[in-house]
Amino acid sequence: MFSRACQRLLLPRYLVQNSSKVLLSSKKALPVYTKNFTKFSNYRFYSSKGDVKLTSEVYPSLKRFEHFKRLTSDDIVHFKQVLDNDDNLVLTADLDFFNEDHLRKYKGQSSLVLKPKTTEQVSKILKYCNENSLPVVPQSGNTGLVGGSNPVFDEIVLSLANLNKIRSFDNVSGILKADAGVILENADAFLAENGFIFPLDLGAKGSCFIGGNVATNAGGLRLLRYGSLHGSVLGLEVVLPDGTVLNSLNSLRKDNTGFDLKQLFIGSEGTLGIITGVSVLCPTRPKAVNVAFLGVESYEAVQKAFTESKNYLSEILSAFEFMDLNSQKLSKEFLKQKSHPLDEEHPFYILIETSGSNKDHDDVKLESFLEYAMENEIVSDGVVAQDETQLKTLWNWRESVSEASTIYGGVYKYDVSIPIQDLYRLVEDVKVRLSDFNLIGETEEFPVKDAIGYGHIGDGNLHLNVAVRRYSKEVESCLEPFVYEWIKKHNGSISAEHGLGFQKKNYIGYSKSDIEINLMKQLKKLYDPKLILNPYKYINFDK
Ligand code: FAD
Ligand code: MLT
Ligand code: ZN
Repeated sequence: MFSRACQRLLLPRYLVQNSSKVLLSSKKALPVYTKNFTKFSNYRFYSSKGDVKLTSEVYPSLKRFEHFKRLTSDDIVHFKQVLDNDDNLVLTADLDFFNEDHLRKYKGQSSLVLKPKTTEQVSKILKYCNENSLPVVPQSGNTGLVGGSNPVFDEIVLSLANLNKIRSFDNVSGILKADAGVILENADAFLAENGFIFPLDLGAKGSCFIGGNVATNAGGLRLLRYGSLHGSVLGLEVVLPDGTVLNSLNSLRKDNTGFDLKQLFIGSEGTLGIITGVSVLCPTRPKAVNVAFLGVESYEAVQKAFTESKNYLSEILSAFEFMDLNSQKLSKEFLKQKSHPLDEEHPFYILIETSGSNKDHDDVKLESFLEYAMENEIVSDGVVAQDETQLKTLWNWRESVSEASTIYGGVYKYDVSIPIQDLYRLVEDVKVRLSDFNLIGETEEFPVKDAIGYGHIGDGNLHLNVAVRRYSKEVESCLEPFVYEWIKKHNGSISAEHGLGFQKKNYIGYSKSDIEINLMKQLKKLYDPKLILNPYKYINFDK
């Protein structure tokens, strides 16, 4: 039962439906959104006003590697033969989708997109490109947020979209083997039919491919529960830059024979090889899922709520996400909603998800956590989803922040790991700096609309989004390297989950030592001596 104090606090929001069971429910029905914003296959939020500027023009000091050959009509004839003379697999026109990044910040000038259907075709393409010094950018769903999946100059785009078959599934071990081009949401839907779940979930699930997820070592919304792909990926099939197919598509949980080479490709962002197949260990799908959306008054309270949620919920805690007030204001505009799940404004919001196998057990645990959090004034208001629709609605308010940040024209994104106690201070300090430079304000003359913070606080991962009306050098140079210096000073990482791509290739030194960078360069040279795979990305590698 709630204590008196707790009931008083809760009553405006919760009803005690059954006094013997202490059931929480939202007083008013949550709004239902019909828009499924997570599915953006075949279309994108073209949010930035105007055309995307060419990357080579925005960064004129960047030079095309001189040793790369220019593409000729003979090359195209060769690729057509490799791809069975199927015109749908060799694209030479209307390539904006492939040349532009998701955030419309970067644009390459590729005149050729290849869409192989088999690993063998990928191998033949890379062998030819390597022999002829033709650079290649692997591209999956093109939802990456650091400009990694797009050409910079005239690199050939190799799209994995046609490698999209489930290869096998073992419902005893939970091991899924699939082509790299399977859309994450499709992989998860297939697993759901078998009572399993993909151990990764993220807002772009309707468009990103599992190979792209592995290539970026995507973290997502449930890393807290299922861990990183470095743990759940059991094996990979990878085509090396010279066309060699490295097949380690294992279904073994334990294998201590030699170096674990697959780990190098997880998070290598297409710089060492092209992933064509993935073997992944999938957990059983939880039968009972709860989502609570809570309002809190300070960042200290967010941290307290996290500590206590681990104490109270332990093994059933599957996500702990946080958002600041201004991120929710942007989401409200983006979702075109008049109301928010919580009536009153709060400086911070938390989304807590529990996943388990026994609803009654999980409800009791969640309720006792909420009761404790309310009684101790860690949390001041909240709602708990009562059905699947409400659950999705609450998640929408968290997942939509990414797209909502772009509605004014564009966004500068910083995806950082910092010790949790310091995490939100980055947002505050950046706001002060933007103000000092007179760049942030409510009216059109200010390039910056707002700086917001949200993210996977359970993983120590903050997303700082600087929502802008237009991309500009002035804003970029105010933020960079300031943000990276700040992160180094606080012992953080400049890339928690989105990767380095084009955006951060000059800044890796803020998170890695010279020794580490040199080893990475040696590995790159070993795997890809001609630097044909995803050049101008990841590490600054002037030949
Ligand atoms: P792409 O964007 O096409 O490629 C990403 C990089 O991998 C590029 O460098 C590309 O060259 C390389 N690559 C792609 N496929 C291959 C391959 N088969 N072999 C070798 N290299 C390859 N990221 C997170 O980590 N967590 C999140 O919660 C998250 N949420 C997101 C929400 C939204 C709304 C959006 C738009 C993005 C989000 N992202 C998130 C970023 C992005 O979705 C992930 O990085 C995702 O893993 C990229 O997959 P993709 O298929 O789109 O790959
Ligand atoms: C998220 O957590 O929402 C994703 O990483 C995407 C983003 O930050 O834009
Ligand atoms: Zn994220």
